[in-house]
Amino acid sequence: MRIDNLKTGEVICKRRKELGLTQNQLAKSLNISFQAVSKWENNTAYPDIEMLPKLAVALNTTVDALLGYSSVVTDYDKRYNTEEYYWGLMPNRICYDIMKILPPIKPYRVLDIGCGEGKDAVFFAKCGYAVTAFDISEQGIEKAKKLAEHNKVEVGFFKADIFDYRLDTEYDIIFSSGVLHFLPDTDRKEFCDCMKVHTTENGINALNVFVQKPFITRAPDETRDEEKRHPWLSGELFECYHDWLFHICREEIFDCNSGGYHINIVWTR
Ligand SMILES: C[S@@+](CC[C@H](N)C(=O)[O-])C[C@H]1O[C@@H](n2cnc3c(N)ncnc32)[C@H](O)[C@@H]1O
Repeated sequence: MRIDNLKTGEVICKRRKELGLTQNQLAKSLNISFQAVSKWENNTAYPDIEMLPKLAVALNTTVDALLGYSSVVTDYDKRYNTEEYYWGLMPNRICYDIMKILPPIKPYRVLDIGCGEGKDAVFFAKCGYAVTAFDISEQGIEKAKKLAEHNKVEVGFFKADIFDYRLDTEYDIIFSSGVLHFLPDTDRKEFCDCMKVHTTENGINALNVFVQKPFITRAPDETRDEEKRHPWLSGELFECYHDWLFHICREEIFDCNSGGYHINIVWTR
């Protein structure tokens, strides 16, 4: 589970304003002084534990949200909560790049980090790779399992959060598409080092990340959960992999709902 640095004051203030309440009105509904609300919003005091559920009700939100628990979860769960596959069923282009470098002449082990509804993981499994894949979205994982079942392939799908998950076994291919911008820049080097250490000799890391391009109009999806997104800087991935053999770099503008600017890079150890 991910808790950001406590930003309870900001959450309270934002929700209160969204509901059109004054500090005084919120205070009255909770039977407290408006100064108490003001202190919470200025982050000079936190609400007591017993106050949190009442406050959540008054602000029509959850205690998790008040504590800064990632809303990315519910956001993706909502998007995946349909019969249709939100990202479609076509594999990402980077999957074919990987196959050219390490074709499935034996069941190479693949890890798909942030697999969404599983289209790429299932594609790899259909090609003969031994695939493990995880995502934070329960809904995504459920749909991914159904997709694997429908395609009669085995994939080790499970729910996990990149903030908690630490690799404990080696993979031949570690793949992640459109996910690593959820890691703040301070955590990224450690995460990449961990992927590198858990990649077999001549194995692949293939990453697709959102990159900062202020001059490109951002898509509707990208402006949601703004504070959770940390697009990479151009060149940042190269820095993390300076000691690996570089194969492919492709830059793409995504003209769709999740839009933005992606960079695909593939390295081998
Ligand atoms: C843009 S989608 C990409 C999905 C998939 N890789 C694809 O290309 O179809 C981003 C995915 O990252 C997942 N995600 C977001 N935050 C995450 C986290 N902290 N840990 C694991 N997965 C996360 C979301 O649930 C979502 O499925």
